[in-house]
Amino acid sequence: MKRKQVLLCIFAVVTALSMNIGAGTASAEAERAWDLTLPSLKDTFADYFGVGNILEPVESANAETAAMFKHHYNFVTAENAMKPSNLSRGPGDFRLFQSDQLVDWAVENGINVVGHTLVWHSQSARWLNTNDDGSPLTRAEARENMEEYINTVAGHFAGRIYSWDVVNEAFQTSVSSAPAETIDGWWRTMLRTGSGGNDASMWYAAYANGMDEEAGEHPGDYIYDAFVFARLADPNAILYYNDFNETDQGKREAMAQMTEELNKQWETDPLNTEPGRLLIEGLGMQAHYWTDNLTPASVELTIMRFAETGARVSITELDIPIGRWNGYREANEETLARQAELYQQLFEVFMRHSDSIERVTFWGKADTQSWRRQGNPLLFDGSFRAKPAFHSIMAVAPDPSLPSEPDPEEDDDENITDVAEDGGDDGRDEQDFSWGIIAIAIAGGGVLVLGGTLLMLNKRK
Ligand code: G3I
Repeated sequence: MKRKQVLLCIFAVVTALSMNIGAGTASAEAERAWDLTLPSLKDTFADYFGVGNILEPVESANAETAAMFKHHYNFVTAENAMKPSNLSRGPGDFRLFQSDQLVDWAVENGINVVGHTLVWHSQSARWLNTNDDGSPLTRAEARENMEEYINTVAGHFAGRIYSWDVVNEAFQTSVSSAPAETIDGWWRTMLRTGSGGNDASMWYAAYANGMDEEAGEHPGDYIYDAFVFARLADPNAILYYNDFNETDQGKREAMAQMTEELNKQWETDPLNTEPGRLLIEGLGMQAHYWTDNLTPASVELTIMRFAETGARVSITELDIPIGRWNGYREANEETLARQAELYQQLFEVFMRHSDSIERVTFWGKADTQSWRRQGNPLLFDGSFRAKPAFHSIMAVAPDPSLPSEPDPEEDDDENITDVAEDGGDDGRDEQDFSWGIIAIAIAGGGVLVLGGTLLMLNKRK
């Protein structure tokens, strides 16, 4: 192990022992308080990317939560408030007041707002694409409703929104592989369709209802329409496509190829008044991972592939629960240390690719507030105390209070994420270092003794 990692392990163990493992007990809940003497996440990574988290309107009115948020984060996403099911109940029936509170609070405090989300198969407003009997509207009806919804919502918040997650999770949950050769339009075959119960997209179903196939229409055209409506409603907002399982090779390719194709289509669209500006400007990696199968290398490959499209990249919903899909595991000293190590490796990847990364947003503030709370997935426990994962992230960032001059002794620690390198590391660095010091001390002592002897002999002469 390298010195930095040794220190980190010691720190992680001490922290784990001193904290209440298995966060969320009644006594811990009673004592919880944010420690604002901790270094700020957003300030620590200011030279690399923004750092965000989620908040609901009611939370922004809570003084302690608001103070903590301002300390650590410069981007905010509403966890649920700005989803269509919460913003609209019917044509002409929009309820924007609560979200206005959150958005205004953020703007007043210099925090960038991420609008989440305009078009999604889940938590949507039924009237947009579905008849009362559950059947899909026609393509033309759904398109008209989408335009009304986006004009109203994105138009209302225009000027206060930094970026919109325009379309969320349009692809099937799992797209494990992509064809070896790029096939035009392949990504369309990987979209959620109108069937599949809760996984179905009524946007897809409605856009299939009455389409003119011979004219080249496809049910997946709702994605392009959504981005165009959003661009026209709020030209200043940066427009993102956002999805999960983005590290799967197939899903990564589907997202990238869709972005490339739709951006090409936009180049010659008569509605495009800004030549050179992309339509899909950002790709959101939700980053809902698991400790038991996360490979930082797959995250790195995804960032690199997305950057190739010309779009910027954001990590939009980061959490790493302990366990694997459908199987949470206990938080203990060992699993928390593993979680900390993975967070550290991810942040090393993010820092290496900070030229492409706009922000890193966590999906939750403290473990007990997370949608995956059983897996204790975040940086702070149920008492709001910093977990080993918080300290491991801080350990990879340069200390902003120190001069930026590189420390030659630290050169070796630059790329400690490399798994192969870690595997071959047996602690020899520290041993070599110590023996070096001893050798210098012995040699120095020898020189002094020799010098003294020569001096005495000289005096006697
Ligand atoms: O507001 C109702 C409340 O009135 C009711 O008593 C209670 C009973 O269950 O439910 C409350 O609604 C819940 C809502 O969160 C607010 O807490 C819903 O049941 C629950 O399903 C909903 O979960 C949200 C989930 O999206 C829904 O898909 C999570 O909070 C939210 O974190 C999660 O966020 C999504 C992102 O938007 C997109 N990516 C995946 C991510 C995780 O699923």
